[in-house]
Amino acid sequence: EKGGYEHFMLKEMYEQPKAIMDTFSPRLKNGNIVIEELGMSEEDIRSIRKIMIVACGSAYHTGMTSKYVFEGLARIPVEVDLASEFRYRNPILDEGTLLIVVSQSGETADTLAALREAKDKGVRVLGIVNVVGSSIAREADNVMYTWAGPEIAVATTKAYSAQLISLYLLAMKFAHVRGELSDKGLADMIEELKELPTQVEMLLNNKNKIQKFANRYLAAKSIFFIGRGIDYAISLEGSLKLKEVSYIHSEAYAAGELKHGTISLIEEGTLVCSVLTQEELYKKTISNMVEVKTRGAFVMAVTNVDNTEVEKAADYVIYLPKTNKYFTNSLAIIPLQLFGYYVAVGRGCDVDKPRNLAKSVTVE
Ligand code: M6R
Repeated sequence: EKGGYEHFMLKEMYEQPKAIMDTFSPRLKNGNIVIEELGMSEEDIRSIRKIMIVACGSAYHTGMTSKYVFEGLARIPVEVDLASEFRYRNPILDEGTLLIVVSQSGETADTLAALREAKDKGVRVLGIVNVVGSSIAREADNVMYTWAGPEIAVATTKAYSAQLISLYLLAMKFAHVRGELSDKGLADMIEELKELPTQVEMLLNNKNKIQKFANRYLAAKSIFFIGRGIDYAISLEGSLKLKEVSYIHSEAYAAGELKHGTISLIEEGTLVCSVLTQEELYKKTISNMVEVKTRGAFVMAVTNVDNTEVEKAADYVIYLPKTNKYFTNSLAIIPLQLFGYYVAVGRGCDVDKPRNLAKSVTVE
C-alpha cells in the first residue's frame, strides 16, 4: 500500500502535486475563485473586520503563513493562535470576526474546543479540514475541505500543502471581493497557482541531491532554521519536520532575533538553514547569515532562482523556481521536508511513526 515507496512520508510528499491540484481545481471556475461551501455572500466577505486562525502544530504554521497573505493581499488584520493558548486567554471575538480553524484530522482536541468556544460566543467558524465527516467538519459553520486524501505518516506533508492552497484561495477571493486585488491581479495569481504542482514535482525530483546533503548531518547535535516574514513561518515548519522524525534538536528563529540570544548556540560546523523567498528581505537575512557564518556556522540557503547574491553568505544553496511572493511556502517547504526525511532515514528512525507522537492528538 506504500506504492513502492519506502515510507508513507515519502509517498505522501510525492502526492503533493496532486493534493495541491485537487484542492484548487474544483474552486476555479471561468477565471474566478468560487468557494460555494464558504456560505458567505460578497456582503459577508466585505464585512469581515478581523480574521482569527486557530490550529496546532503544522496547521498552525499554515495559519502563520497565511497571515502574511491575508494582510498583504486583502488588508484584513489577522491573529494566529495556537488552539491550546486561544482557549484560555478569553479572546476578544465580535461580530466582525471570522474564525478559521485548520486541521488535517478534524479531531484535534484543542482545536475542536477552540471552535466550540468561538461558536458559543456567536462567531462564525470556518473549518479547513482534510478528513471528511470528522468532528471539526461536522461542528464548524462551514467547511472547506483540503483534498489531500488520507494521510498516514504522523509527520504531515501533503495535508500541510493542501492547507496552504486553501488559505491562498481564501485570501485571493477576499482580496478580490474587497477591491484590493484587480481582475488582472487575480488572473495572474491564478496562473501562478496552476504552475505550483509542476514546480513542486521538479523540487521533489532533487531528492538524491538532498539525501546526499542530509547524510552529512546524521550526527548533528542541533540544527537551526532562520527566516523573516513568511520565511520565518516556513522555517518553523522545516524545523518541526526535522525534529519530529529525526529526533535532532532544532530551533527556528526569526532571522533578526538570533542575535538576541540564540547566536550563542552556534558552534564550528553548526548547520543553519536560511530561507529567503521575499525579495525585500534578502539583504537583511543575508546579513544574519554572515553573522552566523563568521561564528563558524555552515549555512544552507533556500532561495529564489534570481537571488544569486546569496552565494556570498551561503555554503550550499537550493534554488526555487519563480512563483508569486505569497506562494513561496509551497515550494520552499519541499527541500526542507526532504531534508528532515532523509536525516531521519539515515539515522534509522521510525519515520512514519516517530516515538511519543500520535497522528491525531485527541487529548487536551
Ligand atoms: O490533525 P491536525 O492538523 O489538527 O494536527 C495538528 C498537529 O497535531 C499536527 O500538524 C502535528 O504537528 C504534525 N505531527 C506535524 O507534522
